[in-house]
Amino acid sequence: MSDWRYFIIRNMYLHSQVSVMMKKVVIISLVLVCCLMCLYYYELTHVDMEPVNKEPGRLMTYKQNRSGVELGFTYTVEESIPTHRGSDYNSLHVSSTKPEGCTPYNYFIFRKTAKTGSSTVAALLYRYGFYHDLVAALPDPPSKMMLHVTNVTVLTTKYDCNHTFPGYNYIASHILDYNYNVLKDFIPKAKFITILRSPIDTFESKFYFTNNHIKYGLQNQINPLEIFLFNSAYQKYINTVLVSRVSTWFDLTSGHELLEMEKQFDLVMITEYMDESLVLLKKMMCWTFDDVIYHSNKVSDIQRQPMTAEMKQKIGTTLALDIELYEYFNSTLWSKIQNYDGDFDRDLSLFRQKLYESTDGCRGKLKYEEEYCDLLTLDVCDLRRVNAKKQYEKFCRKKFKSVNFSQQKKY
Ligand SMILES: *[C@@H]1O[C@H](CO)[C@@H](O)[C@H](O)[C@H]1NC(C)=O
Ligand SMILES: *[C@@H]1O[C@H](CO)[C@@H](O)[C@H](O)[C@H]1NC(C)=O
Ligand SMILES: *[C@@H]1O[C@H](CO)[C@@H](O)[C@H](O)[C@H]1NC(C)=O
Ligand SMILES: *[C@@H]1O[C@H](CO)[C@@H](O)[C@H](O)[C@H]1NC(C)=O
Ligand SMILES: *[C@@H]1O[C@H](CO)[C@@H](O)[C@H](O)[C@H]1NC(C)=O
Repeated sequence: MSDWRYFIIRNMYLHSQVSVMMKKVVIISLVLVCCLMCLYYYELTHVDMEPVNKEPGRLMTYKQNRSGVELGFTYTVEESIPTHRGSDYNSLHVSSTKPEGCTPYNYFIFRKTAKTGSSTVAALLYRYGFYHDLVAALPDPPSKMMLHVTNVTVLTTKYDCNHTFPGYNYIASHILDYNYNVLKDFIPKAKFITILRSPIDTFESKFYFTNNHIKYGLQNQINPLEIFLFNSAYQKYINTVLVSRVSTWFDLTSGHELLEMEKQFDLVMITEYMDESLVLLKKMMCWTFDDVIYHSNKVSDIQRQPMTAEMKQKIGTTLALDIELYEYFNSTLWSKIQNYDGDFDRDLSLFRQKLYESTDGCRGKLKYEEEYCDLLTLDVCDLRRVNAKKQYEKFCRKKFKSVNFSQQKKY
């Protein structure tokens, strides 16, 4: 073979080698690009399972985290509750049916607070979860009262027995070490709800509930709290008893507590306006009046002396932050009422009528089914047990071993 022919053949051979390589490179690149596009598309779509504009109440917009590792989301802060149902709300019977024009929202985290009536609200939320087949994130084990949140995760009951576990919808348990960011990541779509009561009344209630009047030997006095607050003998204990509650309930760094809380919570209920708060909750979540029916276990308080202006002032000075937040969120509640989409007063009286009917109906057990009335009167511990059992048996298909769910620790 002559040199030039060899040269040509060799060149052709090399050329074909190169084109094979080129083809490989092109194919691999195409596959890579496709993969990336798929991933990107998945990241874009898999969060918004429900369209944002369908969502009732305060709008929530999801933000794509470019790293694709964590998903952040932002709230658009809105004072008023946007329209989310039609105008066919003019007849009574609609009150028990699903509001039109919106889809019931089934993700929520309720931050319980102490001595504020929050157990009543937690109980209604557990009932809602039970009736609507939602998955509660329960403490681990579920008989424990507190759901423990660490700085990175939520120590909840897991259902590893099931490979198709759909994820959690809500939290209504007491939360130990509340951490907003961890909880937000845990149920990214959750609406955050809490309840505040007048800090002065909350303090009084806690003072007696934790038996401070007995602890300080004041039980035979006419007004134990007044003596505790003003007698110099007790001054050294005041700071251990009279402490801010909001800073322990919520994960707030000093300086911007009000702003932080405003950003974190979709609804701050006010105990003094429980019914009004629940009408707003119903509206925000696109639920029915039946969903927010509650049963309050009347707490039999000891007959107490009324608080004097001086007592209120003394407590108020120490709990200035609590009072500031309380007053702020009371005014927020009322501005939400003012901007209510619909006839608030009529909805409120409808709700109260329903409340009355349900207690009345259950007292006689005439109109209502036994199961409905039983669930309505169960306390929050028993409702947690009922949900724990239902969830365990649903996911693990095994009998739930009944354990003692009684409140182990009061606080
Ligand atoms: C996005 O994810 C990264 C990595 O985990 C994290 O550092 C960052 O804070 C996240 N950003 C948002 C907006 O969530
Ligand atoms: C969580 O707390 C532990 C110590 O309790 C600390 O070492 C760790 O860095 C913290 N993690 C985060 C994400 O803050
Ligand atoms: C709450 O706000 C309303 C409206 O501003 C006011 O009338 C009411 O007195 C407040 N309630 C309490 C307990 O502060
Ligand atoms: C997993 O849970 C579903 C309900 O979400 C249930 O239908 C299914 O039987 C469970 N699977 C197993 C293996 O228990
Ligand atoms: C459950 O525990 C409570 C308090 O710890 C106790 O009073 C009650 O008798 C227990 N119930 C059962 C069925 O063991």
